Amino acid sequence: MVYNLYHEMLARPTGDELARQRFVLALKRHLMSRLRPGVAVAWEMVARPAFRAMHGRDPSSREEAEAALDEAAHYRYAKAINRISQEMMWQAVGETVYRELDRLESAATRLAASSTRRGSLTLDPAFAPDPVYQAVPIHLQPEGYCPPDPDGRSVVAGAFYESGGRLYSMGRGMAREDSKAGAVLAWLRAHHPGFRPRRMLDMGCSAGGASAAWAAALPECEVHAIDLGSSMLRYAHARAEALGVAVHFRQADAAATPYPDGHFDLVVSHNLFHEVSSAKRRAIAGESLRLLAPGGLALHQDVDLLFRGKEAWEEAERAYDLRYNNEPFWLDYATCDFAAELVEAGFAPEDVWEGRIGKTAGPGHWYLFAAAKPACAAAGEAGDRARAEAA
Ligand SMILES: C[S@@+](CC[C@H](N)C(=O)[O-])C[C@H]1O[C@@H](n2cnc3c(N)ncnc32)[C@H](O)[C@@H]1O
Repeated sequence: MVYNLYHEMLARPTGDELARQRFVLALKRHLMSRLRPGVAVAWEMVARPAFRAMHGRDPSSREEAEAALDEAAHYRYAKAINRISQEMMWQAVGETVYRELDRLESAATRLAASSTRRGSLTLDPAFAPDPVYQAVPIHLQPEGYCPPDPDGRSVVAGAFYESGGRLYSMGRGMAREDSKAGAVLAWLRAHHPGFRPRRMLDMGCSAGGASAAWAAALPECEVHAIDLGSSMLRYAHARAEALGVAVHFRQADAAATPYPDGHFDLVVSHNLFHEVSSAKRRAIAGESLRLLAPGGLALHQDVDLLFRGKEAWEEAERAYDLRYNNEPFWLDYATCDFAAELVEAGFAPEDVWEGRIGKTAGPGHWYLFAAAKPACAAAGEAGDRARAEAA
């Protein structure tokens, strides 16, 4: 999602609301730039020595490191500010979203029925999202990803996701101009320059930020996108229409989609895997392979929160979101070997690549898992390049 994009579906804050949102942004930036870096110091100066004094050794697991860190006042303070800033963020965004909701629902109804609409929305009233997404509002998002939709008009999930996501991401230092889809597309162009997908699928599209970006960047490609909840998808569709791009949204589980075998040249996901269970993630790997046409590519991007190579205290610090920010699958993803799971799903080891990819703007990087489905000349080429790069 490009965070400086304005469109009709965006909840527009009043001056006072904007001031409150900016305060939250400043608090989150203070947390990320001053308080969280201080946790390393709290570990070295307080938590580790105290644990050593008591046990005669360093903490040897994430759990022990977490218990040790909890004894450091700075860590408890940073944790508290983290939680409070997240609650304040949703409260500040919620003022705007709920005040704007009537306008947003009416706009969505009009955009979806417009004779000039370019994409589509296919909802399945019989679809039952995994109950965990109703029971647990992920990252504390009010009403969660799949709120009730009794009148068939709800857009609240998408409105919260986009407005909250903007604040959250910028609070973590992300540039307004960064685009996850743009970062993956840049990697694709650099590593598979001849690859021209005719049809693609964005799994776990949420408010459709990345889906719309793909559609804008690849006008020749038919772009499809799926997610679990009607409220999220209705917003995503209206948002894409407001931006004038064609995306075909559908309510479906990425682990078992209704599309036929080999239907897509490109399957992508953005920040999906840290929000699904291990079993689901493995099933999505298999579904990616099934959905790809020969020569197709699966590109699954997420945040780089993998624990590999991290010390116990770093794992403990990263486990914050699992414990206090309603991220029940954080640890499943942080400890997984998704490249190996892609191979278990049937991709050839030499056709799987993983690594950091640059952001389009701002500091830091994303993490990408890429898998090619060979079987024709184009696929062989994709595999060759992945192999060359892995070597
Ligand atoms: C962090 S959001 C993804 C963000 C989005 N791709 C973007 O770039 O802005 C994760 C999304 O995945 C969806 N999701 C979770 N499990 C899913 C599944 N099995 N099938 C489809 N979507 C799923 C959630 O409903 C949620 O909207």
